Amino acid sequence: MRVIGLMSGTSYDAVDAAAAELGLDGDTLTLRPLGHVAAPYDTRLRAALTAALPPAHTTLAEVCRLDTRIGRDFAAVAVRANRALCGGRAELVASHGQTVYHWADRGTVHGTLQIGQPAWIAEATGLPVVSDFRPRDVAAGGQGAPLVSLVDLLWLRGRPGTPVALNLGGIANLTAPDGTAFDTGPACALIDAAVRDHTGGRLPYDVDGALAARGTVHGPLLARLLEEPYYALPVPRTTGKELFHGGYLRTALSAFPGLPAQDVVATLTRLTARTVADAVRSVRATEVIASGGGTRNPALMRMLGEELPGLPLRTSDALGLPAAAKEAYAFAVLGFLTVHGLPGTDPACTGARHASLLGSVTPGRDGLPQVPRAGRAPVRLVVE
Ligand SMILES: Nc1ncnc2c1ncn2[C@@H]1O[C@H](COP(=O)(O)OP(=O)(O)O)[C@@H](O)[C@H]1O
Ligand SMILES: [Mg+2]
Repeated sequence: MRVIGLMSGTSYDAVDAAAAELGLDGDTLTLRPLGHVAAPYDTRLRAALTAALPPAHTTLAEVCRLDTRIGRDFAAVAVRANRALCGGRAELVASHGQTVYHWADRGTVHGTLQIGQPAWIAEATGLPVVSDFRPRDVAAGGQGAPLVSLVDLLWLRGRPGTPVALNLGGIANLTAPDGTAFDTGPACALIDAAVRDHTGGRLPYDVDGALAARGTVHGPLLARLLEEPYYALPVPRTTGKELFHGGYLRTALSAFPGLPAQDVVATLTRLTARTVADAVRSVRATEVIASGGGTRNPALMRMLGEELPGLPLRTSDALGLPAAAKEAYAFAVLGFLTVHGLPGTDPACTGARHASLLGSVTPGRDGLPQVPRAGRAPVRLVVE
């Protein structure tokens, strides 16, 4: 089955689309990557999102407008991916949507909201769409995240040692083979916020880690940031930009006026490397397989290497899944599982009471996906 996975993460930089040919062969799920495309959000939509996301206040009218605009953007990317990657023969779209709120309170998640109305995707592509993946896991007592953890488990099963999948997006999350999965804290979120503040929004992130490379880590600021209670919460724990946003950073910086921007960025990059490394050590990893836009920041990858001396650190490209599109591929897999009547979570990863069949299905031009219900859940994922 040819499936298009659509994703935009907490960085809300771009809609990533990945297409895959997926199949079930006994207890093995096979994935043949067909390629990926990305479409940056236009600056006006980005600005509208920034203005609506916590800690800002918004209105239901604005939420409705954003739901439509993002739904249309996702639809356009899906049409493009179908044409460019599937020869127009995609059969299903799996859309994560855009997280606008993750309602976490002292380690418990009560709700999570992803927008990007799937009706627009179904209308534009004619294909059935699986969306709204996270809430079912929340309703089952889980964190609703990290949702790619089941895919990571299936994918890394059988690799020797303790391989850990690490995604460096706005937030960093990891999955260990025993099912331990959690958000370690910020990956790029605070770095991006600092760079945007410093450049008045001209630069959205520390391009190629250039600022961090020129700066010096400021010990007292780093110590202050490491006092954040989130890092000491028991796992599984999840977070988002409700916590790690620009205002959070400005509050921390107010105690250290006049720090040069490159030192702030170097310190935030070190903060990510340190908190990720602490998390990686806590699960006794013997290997790290990284993905997400943060892998394109050489300063971050260098610091991560320094924090984890001797530990092999590679990107998911080495195992066949492009780092930039790994999460989009993972959602393609989750959509495929849903239409086959198979659970998309491992309760050990999300903390739920049980595994859940995820998502909501929007019918396509020809109705609901016509797929035979699979007999049993796969135990491994082979990337061809
Ligand atoms: N060339 C680059 N140099 C430095 N950082 C980069 C580069 N490309 C991407 N990034 C970082 O990756 C982030 C986006 O990563 P992504 O995986 O899309 O995260 P999310 O899932 O949160 O959207 C950007 O906000 C930026 O911080
Ligand atoms: Mg992104």
